Amino acid sequence: MMACNCNLVCAYLLLVLAHGAAGFKIGVYWGQSSDEGSLATTCGTGYYALVAMAFLPVFGSGQTPVLNLAGHCDPSGNGCAGLASEIASCQSRGIKVLLSIGGGVGSYKLASTADAQAVASYLWNTFLGGTSRSRPFGDAVLDGIDLDIEVGSDDHYDDLAKNLAWLYNKGAKGGKKTFMLTAAPQCPYPDASLGKALDTGLFDLVWVQFYYQASCQYAPGNASNLRIAWEHWTRALPSASIFLGLPASSDAAPAGGYIAPEDLVSRVLPVVNGSANYGGIMLWSRYYDMVNGYSAKLLGKGTYDTS
Ligand SMILES: *[C@@H]1O[C@H](CO)[C@@H](O)[C@H](O)[C@H]1NC(C)=O
Ligand SMILES: *[C@@H]1O[C@H](CO)[C@@H](O)[C@H](O)[C@H]1NC(C)=O
Repeated sequence: MMACNCNLVCAYLLLVLAHGAAGFKIGVYWGQSSDEGSLATTCGTGYYALVAMAFLPVFGSGQTPVLNLAGHCDPSGNGCAGLASEIASCQSRGIKVLLSIGGGVGSYKLASTADAQAVASYLWNTFLGGTSRSRPFGDAVLDGIDLDIEVGSDDHYDDLAKNLAWLYNKGAKGGKKTFMLTAAPQCPYPDASLGKALDTGLFDLVWVQFYYQASCQYAPGNASNLRIAWEHWTRALPSASIFLGLPASSDAAPAGGYIAPEDLVSRVLPVVNGSANYGGIMLWSRYYDMVNGYSAKLLGKGTYDTS
């Protein structure tokens, strides 16, 4: 019997190693620290199913959009063109690479419906399936746009989502590539900046930030507030895959919300992973994950799926 059990366990472990456990995917933000390693290295870790390049913090209201990838590259003078091959290497591993617009610090605001339409066209032509003379990542075609809107007015992000969805559908007709629309609201429901946009029902994936918000984040040993907020989000957006957005270290969220990997596995995942539209976890950010080894500590917990 012992031998038989051992064989079964070994066979199960091999299956898990080969295919990933039925469990969660990890999405990570990359781009805001020059000490976090390259994009290709990030994808090469095997931890992540999605990587959001952060950020495009300046757009809308007639401003010339500005890409900011910290010390990774200087977008002026075509300095980020080298990322094209890194993006391709991520995509060849099946990892979705997104561009995140907005962020906690930035100058962005949509002035009108027409402005939202113009920004959508800009994003499509510059980073996705369209064409432009100015493509910072050259021929690389990203997998979608992430809205991390945290400052300014909430106006017209619904128009932006509708215009992007329209361009995605139109662009997809020519080929088989599909594009994603994702968003990173804060955990109080509804989100002050993204509520109207999310009401369109057009988002494929929503990674809710369960940090910096005492009213809905995890309190040590007590997932009660997190559970209430999680239930709001998963019920409100049945057609989206909902991810639990977390800081990858306590330094990543000095204002609170860090959940140690052991607590995540024992106390928090069981609260969220029964939802039909539970998708996985999002980590802010690759830098903190690298320093703290958060994803690495989750490996072997039987809850991992990078496919
Ligand atoms: C957990 O937190 C909730 C909300 O703050 C509170 O009402 C409840 O008493 C706490 N439970 C325990 C066991 O501390
Ligand atoms: C939910 O999480 C728990 C604890 O990590 C794990 O044991 C369980 O298999 C998970 N369930 C699903 C459906 O992923």
